[in-house]
Amino acid sequence: MQTRALDIIRGNWRNGFTIPTSKLYPFQWLWDSGFVAMGNGIYNLPQAIEEIDKMFSGQWANGMVPHILFHSEKESTYFPNFDFWNSNVNPGAPLFPKSSGITQPPVFGFVLKALLENHPDDESLKEFTKKIFPKIKAFHKFLYTYRDHNREGLFHIFHPWESGRDNSPIWDNSLDRIVIDKKRLPEYTRRDTNLADASERPTTDQYNRYVYLLELGKKYRYDGKEIAKESPFLIQDSMMNAILIKSNDSLIEIASDLKLDAGQIKEWQQLSKSNYDQKFWNEDLGLYVGYDLRNDKQMLHREIGGIAPLFAQIPDQEKASRINDYLKSIAERGYYLCPSYDVDSPNFDSKRYWRGPIWPQMNWMIYKGLLHYNFADTADIVKNDLITLIHKLGFYEYFEAQKELVETLQKGYGGNNFSWTASSYIHLNSIT
Ligand code: GLC
Repeated sequence: MQTRALDIIRGNWRNGFTIPTSKLYPFQWLWDSGFVAMGNGIYNLPQAIEEIDKMFSGQWANGMVPHILFHSEKESTYFPNFDFWNSNVNPGAPLFPKSSGITQPPVFGFVLKALLENHPDDESLKEFTKKIFPKIKAFHKFLYTYRDHNREGLFHIFHPWESGRDNSPIWDNSLDRIVIDKKRLPEYTRRDTNLADASERPTTDQYNRYVYLLELGKKYRYDGKEIAKESPFLIQDSMMNAILIKSNDSLIEIASDLKLDAGQIKEWQQLSKSNYDQKFWNEDLGLYVGYDLRNDKQMLHREIGGIAPLFAQIPDQEKASRINDYLKSIAERGYYLCPSYDVDSPNFDSKRYWRGPIWPQMNWMIYKGLLHYNFADTADIVKNDLITLIHKLGFYEYFEAQKELVETLQKGYGGNNFSWTASSYIHLNSIT
């Protein structure tokens, strides 16, 4: 199976980067690339270096790394394509590669650290680290500068796609605030529902709202400060900020090993860490939650982004224990770990994308987090559940969460031969 996983990544390799899966996602995606570089890099370090380098070839002058790079302008199976984004309305967006106008979770700090841990003596990696370090730092600086107006050390997003958890129920309330006037929305044709089962994908109503927010971004040249004034969707996401903290920690450690300058990162990190718990922890739920800046309230949901802070070692042992108990209780009730949304909510949908199913890269992060707190038993469940699902259903994009239902299925959900599924599998099977 390890060979099969490497073959999948090889098959998805294009000219210098890995697509998530053919047809459905035929370009380079930010956090997919990071996770792929990490697993693939165990065996193919030069490719992993090339992959990260390629991602940063699309970095904007303001430091933003876009969530999609359209290296090939010929592919037509994806909407919204580069012409719809028209990101060159921002003068700092490179003319080539074309890109989207939003970002995704800042994973590259911890990805780079994982590569260095696997190849501690590799000179080419050390050289690359010196080259890429300032670019990753510039990406973090973008988040602290353009997405953190209250200077809390916690950045915001203005589009659900930035979170990587596109149609999670946590965004519903904010999206419902958007009033769609069909006459003012540009005409568009979705491509995803030709390639994947519509019942597994976001709905048309949601898509209209995604397009609305994209248009809002375009109107302000994708400049975070202007968008923040108008956007009905303005959220500090617990998972993305945890990932930023994890990547900051990694950069600080890398800097101390390789004698690089981490000065500013340490300041940002201090601010982020001092505000994270107070802003995102919810004592009643016993989990972390997101924060809605439009109505100044925590968003009260149990979802995977409230568990991810374990990965960044943010909770103290007591809070981590509560999260661990929550996970154990779900496992005992007939679900694979870790469902992406609250299994007890009427909005839980074990099939529809981020509204319930299991996502491979999330299991990888949570597995690492649980190990840190010495919850080895739950960590094993998280790891073995993913491996079981892959063995049973294939290297799919995401998986059914209900054990009983899995027994009736022949395959996973979404795209097949999926790169981050293969990479998470490689990583989970290679190291602890
Ligand atoms: C979907 C996922 C997102 C991922 C992308 C490419 O949009 O929600 O997290 O990066 O597909 O795989």
